[in-house]
Amino acid sequence: MIKVLLSQDIHPEGRKLLEGKFDVRIAPGAAEADLIEAAKDVEAIILRTNAKITRKVIENAPKLKIISRTGAGVDNVDVDAATEKGILVCNLPAVNNVSVAEHTVALIMHLAKQLSTMDRAVREGKWNMRNSNIAVELEGKILGVVGMGNIGALVAKKCHDGLGMKILAYDPYTEERFKDYDYEFTDDLEELFRRSDFVTLHCPDTPETRGMVKRDLIYSMKPTAYLINTARGTLVDEKSLIMALKERRIAGAGLDVFTEEPPKEDNELLKLDNVVLSPHSAAMTKEATTRMSTEAAQAVVDYFEGRQPKYIFNGNELRKKGIRLYFEMEKLL
Ligand code: NAI
Repeated sequence: MIKVLLSQDIHPEGRKLLEGKFDVRIAPGAAEADLIEAAKDVEAIILRTNAKITRKVIENAPKLKIISRTGAGVDNVDVDAATEKGILVCNLPAVNNVSVAEHTVALIMHLAKQLSTMDRAVREGKWNMRNSNIAVELEGKILGVVGMGNIGALVAKKCHDGLGMKILAYDPYTEERFKDYDYEFTDDLEELFRRSDFVTLHCPDTPETRGMVKRDLIYSMKPTAYLINTARGTLVDEKSLIMALKERRIAGAGLDVFTEEPPKEDNELLKLDNVVLSPHSAAMTKEATTRMSTEAAQAVVDYFEGRQPKYIFNGNELRKKGIRLYFEMEKLL
């Protein structure tokens, strides 16, 4: 029976698709050594965000044919190493767009209405907080969207159409398809940070974007502005963000992602009252979790039943290397 490794258990609906067809096992841990041992004789890996499939893991897994991600990002896979070995890397580009976009809007609204502070005030008997006027309206405020891909575009739409916010977007790779929208684009990231009332990050972690939100950008924001990050913690210089928050150089931040996850106990972000935090849970709604597990499992089923998985992240690179993507069922099962 074909062996499938799960980096972590998946939703029962996803497991149902594999049961009876595959020998399914769960990695004992997310450390590289655990994964090397667990992956050494498997043909497929279903990979959640908890683990990294490194070159070493790939080189020690001679039977591996497909790595199927339960989400959009593939920054926890050494894609080059996989491609070199002719291994398909499948992802799910749109599977959790709605959940992440809604979570982003929730963070924006939470900050605008100062819900943490208000909640605490009521519990502590500080009813007078209602007269502090620290909440703001969102209508007419500028939302700076960095990265207008699937999620960024959806956040822009929800905030523009639903909340009446103005959209100022930055994305060096996609402007054309927003021609008919009432959005302003800039090719100057500094301008976006300087003018926005809320800045929200939606670009992938790449060598180009890693650390792109540097001290200067953070400090160029308005003192009344908020930074929202539901993309990747690595995009932001977290130390500078903490400084700016402590010095009240910006009003606050809403963070679903961190440089180190989970953040260490002594991470100062955990002590600040002008931030709202969530544990990389933007995508983890009931609906999206079910979709993620079933669609990632379906990619593995499709592959071994001779059908092309819906999304092959390294398809072009594999084709360039002359590796064929279609297989006949009887050759594999
Ligand atoms: P996408 O690939 O559809 O969009 C990314 C956009 O970023 C593209 O339009 C691209 O042109 C743009 N981009 C690339 N380099 C850029 C740069 N230097 N500056 C500005 N824009 C740049 O990806 P999608 O699905 O919208 O996801 C965005 C990110 O959200 C993912 O890469 C992932 O890191 C994160 N994410 C977080 C989740 C969570 O649970 N918090 C769940 C899913 C995704």
